[in-house]
Order: sequence, then structure tokens, then C-alpha cells
Amino acid sequence: MRVVTSAAAMQRQASQWKQEQRCIGLVPTMGYLHEGHLSLVRRARQAAGPAGKVVVSIYVNPTQFAPQEDLAKYPRDLARDRRLCRAAGVDLVFAPPDAEMYPRGNGGSFSTYVVEEELSRRMEGACRPTHFRGVTTVVAKLFNLVQPDAAVFGAKDFQQAAIVKRMARDLNFPVRIIVAPTVREPDGLAMSSRNKYLSPAERAQATVLWRSIQRAREAVSAARGPIPAAELQRELAGLIARQPGARVDYVEFFDPETLEPASAVGPGAHLALAVFIGNTRLIDNAPLASLRRQR
Ligand code: PAJ
Repeated sequence: MRVVTSAAAMQRQASQWKQEQRCIGLVPTMGYLHEGHLSLVRRARQAAGPAGKVVVSIYVNPTQFAPQEDLAKYPRDLARDRRLCRAAGVDLVFAPPDAEMYPRGNGGSFSTYVVEEELSRRMEGACRPTHFRGVTTVVAKLFNLVQPDAAVFGAKDFQQAAIVKRMARDLNFPVRIIVAPTVREPDGLAMSSRNKYLSPAERAQATVLWRSIQRAREAVSAARGPIPAAELQRELAGLIARQPGARVDYVEFFDPETLEPASAVGPGAHLALAVFIGNTRLIDNAPLASLRRQR
């Protein structure tokens, strides 16, 4: 497995693979890898084929963090990530330093961004106004550096995946965006690098996100018609408020195609929520139509 830290070397390697007509599958990550990330690696291998190449990028992207957010303390363990990637059959890890991704000097700072202006407005974008600009910018850069035929994103970050799809379409990136299912802990908590921040008591409370999803599914399957979104939002907010350390950032029902909010909630709607557990902000989402067992 090759580890590349320079942008130019990454681009050279990708161009060589292109000349050899190899399919390239990319999994962008911020590292501190878990089983959710590794499921994306397996999906990328499937997309690239046995003769293809799988690239995992590991980069804690500063432009998607607001000044008060957790950039400095975001968990990092590159040695462990490399071992996991090697064991998973990854061909190349791209782990650039900031200076490679956001060059400055020679008369100027980094000043070109990619901005998606429609799907980015709500939910994560409303709570974290500069977040998606950072995501689309770094993902566009990764697409230019790695030249992937396919890139795999997790449904865990549903809005992010929708925005990346829109960006690829709008800007003609020749890349297929694949969205892979959310991988969960046995008690339903979605795997996340940020789960590491939780104390044991908070970890127990964090299951309230998954329990909220289950509750909404039960309500929708029991109802004879659509339920007013405000009613269901109130009920879930009440469920979440019973956890002493929990605070709702948003609970939103929406159309999974357009991300437009739904005023009436039926089985076609999608639920996304963001909840602070202590100081840790967790997000989750799921379709409401699914059978109770579906995760
Ligand atoms: P990160 O949070 O490291 O996630 C990398 C990828 O793994 C994303 O596509 C995310 O949706 C997916 N993922 C995370 N947890 C998952 C889970 N439990 N099940 C399935 N997939 C999961 O998302 C980012 O990094 C960054 O915003 C990035 C796209 C790399 C741009 O910097």
C-alpha cells in the first residue's frame, strides 16, 4: 500500500493509473477510521474491480470547521488508520498536510471555493453556515487530484452525500457517486469518529438518536394518514429532552430527493436529527418507510 502526502504526487499516480485504464475508487475521510469507513472501502473495491485501484484520503479538512468547532481536538491516529487501510486492501492512502491542500505564499492565500447554493441551506447548513462550502471545496479538490471513476460516501451524512451528488452533476465531474448504508453499533448508535468524545454516561444517552428514529417509524406505520411534522417533532423533542445531557439542534422531516421540509409526515419522508450530548454534537438520519428491523 502506497502512502502519498503530496498533491502533485497524487495527481501523477492517478494520471498513470488512468493511462493504464484502471478504474479508480475513492473514499474521502477525515480519518480515525471505524467500521463505517471500512464498509465504504469495501464498496469502493467492488466498484473499482479487482484490477482497479482504491484510494482512501485521510484529511481533517479545516475549511469545513467553524472557528468554535472541534478542529483542534478532532481525533487523529494516522498509524492506526494506515494499518486498517492496509488490512482492508486499500492501494493508496492520500494523507496530505494542510500546506498541500491549502497552499499560500507566492503572493496570496487560498481564495477559491466551491459553493452549492440550494441543498446546503437547511439542516446542517443552517446550523453550520460555512460547513458545506468547506466540504464541496475539499471534495472537488480530491476529485481533481485522485481522478476517481467512483467515489463512495456514507448515508450517515445524508445531506453531504446529496450535495456532493449535486456538485458532481452541476460541475460535470466524471465520477459516479455511490452512497453506502449507515453502519451502526449493536444498540443502534451510528458509528462516528466523534463518538470517542462521549463519556460512558453520555454514550448511554446517545442511543436517543436511534430511539427517536424508531419512534418516528412506529408513529408513521401506526398512523392512518400523514402526521403533522410539528406534532412528531414535538414528540421526539420530548423523548430527547428526557436525557439529562441532551439538547436538540434540529429534528427535521423532509423529502429525500429535494431535501425540502415536509409539513406532513408519511412513509415517504426522511428524518434527520442533530443532538448535542453534553458538548458532543451527533447527527443521524433514516427513511421512515423502512421496516422496523432496517437500520
Ligand atoms: P468523515 O466524517 O470521516 O466520513 C467519511 C465518510 O464516511 C463519509 O462519506 C461519511 O458519511 C462516512 N461515514 C461516517 N460514518 C459512517 C457510518 N457509521 N456508516 C457509513 N458511513 C459512514 O464526512 C467526512 O469525513 C468529510 O466531510 C469528508 C467527506 C471526508 C470531506 O472532508
